[in-house]
Formats: sequence, C-alpha cells, structure tokens
Amino acid sequence: MRKYMVAGNWKMNKSLAEGIQLAKEVDAAVEAAGKLLCEVVIAPAFLHLSEVSKAVGAKVSVSAQNCAAEASGAYTGEVSAAMLQSAGIPYVIIGHSERRTYYGETDAILAKKAELALANGLKPIFCIGEELSQRDSGKYLDVVKGQIENGLFRFSADEFSKIVIAYEPVWAIGTGRTATSEQAQEVHAFIRKTVADKYGSAVADNVTILYGGSCNENNAKELFARPDIDGGLIGGASLVADKFIRIVTAF
Ligand code: 13P
Repeated sequence: MRKYMVAGNWKMNKSLAEGIQLAKEVDAAVEAAGKLLCEVVIAPAFLHLSEVSKAVGAKVSVSAQNCAAEASGAYTGEVSAAMLQSAGIPYVIIGHSERRTYYGETDAILAKKAELALANGLKPIFCIGEELSQRDSGKYLDVVKGQIENGLFRFSADEFSKIVIAYEPVWAIGTGRTATSEQAQEVHAFIRKTVADKYGSAVADNVTILYGGSCNENNAKELFARPDIDGGLIGGASLVADKFIRIVTAF
C-alpha cells in the first residue's frame, strides 16, 4: 500500500522553546483532526530532535534534516546515521537542494548518506529536483532521472522500498512560485515510471513521492489530488501550526 505523507522541513528556524511549542501545537491539531489519511512528520534542527520527539505523540514522527556521509570518527561537527538511530529518530532528509547547492553535496555523497541511513534502520526522504535553467532548457526530466539513478539505483528493491522521494524543483523552493499541479504531476509520473523500469511496477506503485516547493494551505489540495503526488515536503508553511495542519488535512 502506498503511504501518503506530509513532512515539515523546519530548516534553520526556531529556538528550542519555539520548536517545542510548535511541535505541541502540531501534535494537538493532529489529535483533534481524528483519522488522517497521511503520515505526519516534522524535521527540526539536530539539536532539537530529542526534545521535539518528547513533545509529540505517536501520530507525529520526527525527522533529521541531514546526516553524515561517514559512519563515525574524526568528522568534527557531523552527526551520523547511527547517532540518529540511537536517539530514536525514524526519518532523515537527504539531498535537499540547499545541501546540494550550499554544501556541495554531490549525488555520490548523497548515495553514501542514503546507504548509511538505510544500514542504520532510518527511512531516507531523498530530495531531487531541477534548477530553473534546467527547466527552461527542457532538460528537467533528464536531471531528475540522473539524480535518482546516481543516488538511489544502487539499492536492492527491498532497500529502495524504505525510501521516500521528494521532488522539489529548486525554482519553486521559498519563492512563492509553486509548480502547477500539471507540472508536478508530469515529473512525479516520470519518477514513478523511472522506478518501475528499474524495480518493477509493484515497487513503483508503492513508492511515496512528495512534492515540495512553495506548497501551502491554499495549493495543497489541488497538488495532492493528482494521482502521483503522495503528499508534500513543506518549508515555510510548516513553521505555523495552523497552516501546516491545513496542508495535512488537505488529503
Ligand atoms: P518552501 O515550502 O518554503 O518553498 O520550502 C520547500 C522545501 O524546501 C522543503 O524542503
């Protein structure tokens, strides 16, 4: 069964007290909403993961925003997949475009991160997406295909089945310029076909593919209504509980 998900990527926002407060508000709203059709995930800063985890109940999961590409050792400032696992964190975002762009994370580095995440029982939320120039040149499907092949096609079908893919066109992130639901659906269907060609249609039917990039409480319903859009990875709108919950309940 394909799972639907709405995940809030808090990026480098919120103090510890603010993060706990937001987590409690999200948790209360999720409880009040009754039966939901999607899994709800929030991704605070590393430093806040443990406290935020304690602030939510069983219906809200917590994710890290990154993990190291090495298992352990002399890597000052890094946080390993094993550390996340030992802290009871179930998810980790890998390959966000901000990591790729600002920290030089290549497909090869991200593949190592995904490998370590899976080896430690974490579920990666693996981000892909083209830049504006790549969209304008008409090469966006090739870009997305390359990111999937180089980042994820080293895994067995069993391993791959634990991965959530997030399609986040870079030109839509934080810009207020969301992809239209047609544009997003085109790429999501292409991603599912790419997965089907490699792993078969059963694996492809089950893979969760999120859309991210200026997804908000006003456009989520139309995006999520598309057959290959299985939820969202939400930045700005996840920082306000009321907005985030309206996205969660858009299913
Ligand atoms: P915005 O929702 O702020 O555009 O950010 C999307 C994103 O990068 C989520 O990971």
